[in-house]
Amino acid sequence: MIKILTVIGARPQIIKASALNRAINGRYSKDILEVILHTGQHYDDSMSDVFFREMDIPQPDYNLNVGSGSHGKQTASMIEGIEKIALIEKPNAIIVYGDTNSTLATAIAASKLKIPLVHIEAGLRSFNKSMPEEINRIVCDHCSTMLFTPTGAGYKNLTREGFNQDNESPFTIDNPGIFHCGDVMYDNTLYFSDVAETASQIISDLELINKEFLLVTVHRDSNTDVPERLNSILDAINDISISESIHVVFPMHPRTTASLEKGEYSASKHIKENKLFHVITPASFLEMHLLEKRCSMIFTDSGGVQKEAFFLRKPCIVLRHETEWVELIECGNSLLVDANAERIKDAYEQYKGKKKISYPALYGDGNAADFICKEIIRNFS
Ligand code: UD1
Repeated sequence: MIKILTVIGARPQIIKASALNRAINGRYSKDILEVILHTGQHYDDSMSDVFFREMDIPQPDYNLNVGSGSHGKQTASMIEGIEKIALIEKPNAIIVYGDTNSTLATAIAASKLKIPLVHIEAGLRSFNKSMPEEINRIVCDHCSTMLFTPTGAGYKNLTREGFNQDNESPFTIDNPGIFHCGDVMYDNTLYFSDVAETASQIISDLELINKEFLLVTVHRDSNTDVPERLNSILDAINDISISESIHVVFPMHPRTTASLEKGEYSASKHIKENKLFHVITPASFLEMHLLEKRCSMIFTDSGGVQKEAFFLRKPCIVLRHETEWVELIECGNSLLVDANAERIKDAYEQYKGKKKISYPALYGDGNAADFICKEIIRNFS
């Protein structure tokens, strides 16, 4: 039996971990034992607990309860806690997802303890090192023993950085194995699609049955912590809502809520005055799925939401300067507009005019978790 320690901490990691957890507790229950460690980076019910309940993920075996803090403080206390648990559990490998501070802390703790690290959602690059996530991705990839990329672009980035696609098992940190396996988030979208229809009442609760609406999420610090940028984004979407008489649903991340409470964020007042602008607390996975499915267009700076927009065939206006999901721009489902009000409005007009979009199978076939389990078993047995 292979023992793995899965480390999660932020909302998107809990979501991603559910796909592998289903595979491990299902088909691979005799081969893999999973111990779950939650760093506590996200801690509100709406940012953490609700995903465990909805996605049927076992309660974490450990919770470090690190909470919020500066990057250094948060990451340092995670490293200390992860090291302690890893020494107790002595896993064959540690699994991490994505690019958060929880990912970075795990990469440092695991590599110093010489425990093989498995990075799921490896290889992505925005080529913008002012994003904290870009640093986290690079460090984590270069501390990893097995790297699973969701996209062809991610795989190419790794080979460009010197990862050798001809390396053979047994993989080690100095002889890492790279795999292009598709995206575990696509596994989840397929698995939960029917469940969401019956389990979530969000559309009726918002009185939006049969009504057209736009969906918005904004949580990156580069947008939320710069008043001109957040004002520009929200005022542009608010103008669209008023001129088109279209509803807007905005599940708001706590970071964004905190910013909008400050005086210099004038857009806060404007969206409050617009009856069509529905600001709600962070959505659960099933609620978000239904909102994405029923909306007519998405505005976001989230990585995960960009992909879910593609899975559900909804045009996506990306409120960033660049994206690591470059294939979404190439196929036409995403348009990069940054925080520029004119570009946001232009993008809306383009998509409203039914811009031509193609939907190739960019993220695998919905069996990424199964592939990852097989490769882990092959390498660590
Ligand atoms: C983190 C990730 C980001 C990911 C996002 C998903 C890093 C560097 N960034 O950003 O890549 O897209 O998670 O949401 O790891 N807060 C609460 N309750 C919570 C969690 C956070 O109120 O449960 C508030 C706190 O004020 C906190 C702020 O949100 O200071 C930011 O949280 P933090 O974990 O530092 O980063 P995120 O912005 O969530």
